[in-house]
Amino acid sequence: MTKYPSMDKEIFLPAEQFFEQTKPTGLTFDDISLATRYSDVLPSDANLGTQLSENISLNLPILSSDMDTVTESEMAIAMALCGGLGILHYNMSKRQQLKEVTRVKYHVHGLIQDPITITADKLIGDVLGLIDQKGFQFRTFPIVEDNGKLLGLLPGRVVKHRYRSRKVTDGMLARNEVYTVKQTDIGEDPIQTADRFFSEHMGIHKLLVVDDNDKLCGLYTLSDIERIIGEAGNHLKPARDHNFRLLCGAAVSIPRLEDGKINQDELIQHVGEMVQQGLNLVAVSTAHGHTQGVGDATKVLRKEFANLTIMAGNVTSGEGVEFLGDCGADIIKVGQGPGSICTTRIVAGVGIPQMSALYAASCKAKKKGLSIVADGGITKSGDIVKALTLTDGVICGSLLAGCKEAPGRIIEIEGKYYKQYRGMGSLEAMRDGSAARYGHSAKDVGAKSAAEGIEALKEVAGSVTETINLLAGGIRSGMGYLGASNLSELKSNARYVRVTPAGQKESSPHDVIEIKNSEFSRS
Ligand code: IMP
Repeated sequence: MTKYPSMDKEIFLPAEQFFEQTKPTGLTFDDISLATRYSDVLPSDANLGTQLSENISLNLPILSSDMDTVTESEMAIAMALCGGLGILHYNMSKRQQLKEVTRVKYHVHGLIQDPITITADKLIGDVLGLIDQKGFQFRTFPIVEDNGKLLGLLPGRVVKHRYRSRKVTDGMLARNEVYTVKQTDIGEDPIQTADRFFSEHMGIHKLLVVDDNDKLCGLYTLSDIERIIGEAGNHLKPARDHNFRLLCGAAVSIPRLEDGKINQDELIQHVGEMVQQGLNLVAVSTAHGHTQGVGDATKVLRKEFANLTIMAGNVTSGEGVEFLGDCGADIIKVGQGPGSICTTRIVAGVGIPQMSALYAASCKAKKKGLSIVADGGITKSGDIVKALTLTDGVICGSLLAGCKEAPGRIIEIEGKYYKQYRGMGSLEAMRDGSAARYGHSAKDVGAKSAAEGIEALKEVAGSVTETINLLAGGIRSGMGYLGASNLSELKSNARYVRVTPAGQKESSPHDVIEIKNSEFSRS
């Protein structure tokens, strides 16, 4: 008991009281600040792990946005290597999106349990065609008989255009020249087993796994094993599935038939092909998720893919969360109008300031046992901390669009370097395929439809790892201030205060001449 009564409890309020008292005013990140709490947590000890669904847990609660200037395979790989998740955009052909998923899933493995094989009747030219068609970034293939029995190994050094008319068997290492390990001899730690093998066998880069009948059942590559062993020292652990593959998400639009009904076959076939390549999460991504169309598409996917994590959105209400959860979504995207390139609030007069939207969504999500992620409007790590007091993760667009792993060329303007960043509701992006996300058909773009996003530039920002390290550092600091060793404690320890315009001014550097910008300070 302290000697004097404390006013803390009346000034710094938990979410239920704070948002209850401020209703119906819509508040966003800069309208609030978090109170410090007693802490015995060092920021470096804070655990940033989050469980988004039964099958998806991340080591970092950050997802990259499914926008065509943010997430293709390079960004998705970089995000998963940092412990987060990339959601591939869909402004590309279905075939291309499938290739992008494949690139992420085949990026770095430990033990590849279903290696891509070829049969002895193929030519080198066939293999080159396969690499091109599937977007494989490797060139070494085991050769097997029709029953899966190992015949040999086609080394990457012979997979060349000049040998295209030669048989694969002409260039292969025969069975007795290939290093193998029996599946039964792998032991408890498959990575350790491979690491030991490669240390003992100088210059060997591939180790194949066979069963008692000499059927191929796995493949190790030295570079993968070295990457994985190297990662053990990183403070951000990659997000991997149970086959040691990087996690990957992909957004889909809702294909329609002539009569406006959902083209279920097309949707199921495309998602099915991505799932076959190991896709971990599909996102039904639209500007308005509390709609019959998004609900029906979510139901179709849930029925067909019982174990696939489904994300759907966007909504800004408890009713929206409940609706999509009842349709089968595991994760709901929350945000309408907060995005840096978004003009929805100006064009349509619609949208809810993000912290109030997150609160409304979180009340229902908690009751229904659903996950929610905050999508849009995040400009600094402090916003992420605030969002995580109510959600299970955040989606970032603009914070990542300047990174070298984001799609697009670097443009130089007056000695400064930029990358293009555009809203998926901008006219150009809608013409490239995202019109359905805003409820329009491609042919209506520019005629019956108004753009809800702008085209912009982002200053080039280095690598994803550098950006994520800064963001993760900020989240850890926030957790340290709130005495939260994990994200669940961050939620329960959060106490909010309302910030006035004067308070906002005080929150950024002021009354000094700034000679070096903090990475995320507002100018
Ligand atoms: P940012 O992180 O503030 O740049 O916001 C990115 C988010 O804005 C995306 O994840 C989408 O939810 C949303 N968004 C993307 N394109 C548009 C658009 O053209 N209009 C409105 N919102 C958009």
